[in-house]
Amino acid sequence: MHSEYQHLIDLSDYPVAWWKKVVELGEEIKNDPARFAHECSGKVMATLFYEPSTRTQMSFQTAMIRLGGQIIGFDNPANSSVAKGETIKDTTKIVSNYADVLVIRHPVAGAAKAASLTADCSVINAGDGGHLHPTQTLTDLLTLKIEKKTLSGLTVGMCGDLINGRTVHSLCKALSMFPDNKFVFISTPELRMPAYIKDIIKANGSSYEEVDTLEEAIGKLDVLYMTRIQQERFASEEDYLAQKNTYVLDKKKMQLAKQDMIVMHPLPRVDEITVEVDDDPRAKYFTQAKYGVFVRMALILTILKENKPSETLKGKVYSGVCCDNPRCITNHEHYLPKSFRHSGDHTLLECEYCDERKLI
Ligand code: NCD
Repeated sequence: MHSEYQHLIDLSDYPVAWWKKVVELGEEIKNDPARFAHECSGKVMATLFYEPSTRTQMSFQTAMIRLGGQIIGFDNPANSSVAKGETIKDTTKIVSNYADVLVIRHPVAGAAKAASLTADCSVINAGDGGHLHPTQTLTDLLTLKIEKKTLSGLTVGMCGDLINGRTVHSLCKALSMFPDNKFVFISTPELRMPAYIKDIIKANGSSYEEVDTLEEAIGKLDVLYMTRIQQERFASEEDYLAQKNTYVLDKKKMQLAKQDMIVMHPLPRVDEITVEVDDDPRAKYFTQAKYGVFVRMALILTILKENKPSETLKGKVYSGVCCDNPRCITNHEHYLPKSFRHSGDHTLLECEYCDERKLI
C-alpha cells in the first residue's frame, strides 16, 4: 500500500544516513535556533494523544511553535469524538484535512501505522503501546552524539521494564545499526527484552548479554539507560507490585560506575533513580529531555520539506490469518488489512503493525 505523504512510524523505514541527517540538523538548530524561527510559518501540526504525555507532546508543540507554525489537537480523547466511538481511521482522516502533520500517541501497538494508511498528511509515531517510540530514539541519538561524542563503540546498559518499554525497543534497533555497540540488558526474567528485538540486534552484528542486577553490570557501561516499570501495561496490580522497586539507581551504585558513564532516562521517573543522583554530573536525563525539542524541530522540518510518498504496508494479507497479539491495533480496528511479512527462516510470519510473530 502506498501513501502520498511521508511518515515516521519506525526509524527502520529510513536508511541510517537519514537519521544521522535529522540528528545533525537537530544539533544545528540547538546551536542557532533563531535561524529556523520562520521555517514552518503557515503550517499546522496536530497532536492526537490518546495516552498521557508531558515531554513528547509538549516538546512537539514547542518544536512547531519555535519553527513559526501553529498547533491543534487533543490530549484527552474523552474530550474528542473518540469518546463517541470514532475509529482511528475517521479521526485521522478528518484531522489530516486540518493539519500538515499529525503526531499520534496511542496505547495500542501499530496505531500510528494504521493512521498512516489513510491520513491525508504526514503521520509521526509518538509512541504506540509497548511497541516503538522513534522520536524518543532521535532524542537519545542526539544526546549520545553531544554527550558521548559518538554513536559507535558504546557499551549500553538498559535497565528495568525491557519487555514493555517502547523507548528501549526503538533505541536497540537504532544503536545496533552503528558499529561495535554492545548491549547489557538488566531486568528480571519476566521483563526481558522481546525475542524479536534480540534477533534484530544479532542480525545487525551487535551483541547483548542479559543480567539480573545493576551491580554486576554498571562498572563496564558507557551509558546506563534507566526505564520506568510500565504499570499501565501490566495485566494486574499484583503483577506490577511484584516488579516495582526491583532496580533503584542511587548514589552508592553510581560509585561503581565509570567516571564518564552517562545516565539517561526517557522520563517520567517514578522511583528507579533516587533524587540524589540528579546532582551527579553524569546524570543527563533532564538535558536529554531538553534536546528533544531540537531534534523534533529537525524532524518536522525534514518531513515537511522532503514530503516523499511512502510505502505504508509492504507485506501480504493471508486469507483468514490474524495477529495473535491482543494489544495489536488490527484486533481493535477490524477494517485494517491484516498484513504480514515473512521473517528469517520463512516459517514465521511477522505482523506489520506490531511485529508479533506466528508460526505457519
Ligand atoms: C516514555 C514513553 O512514553 O514511552 N516517555 C517519554 O515519551 N519520554 C517512557 C515512559 O513512559 O516510561
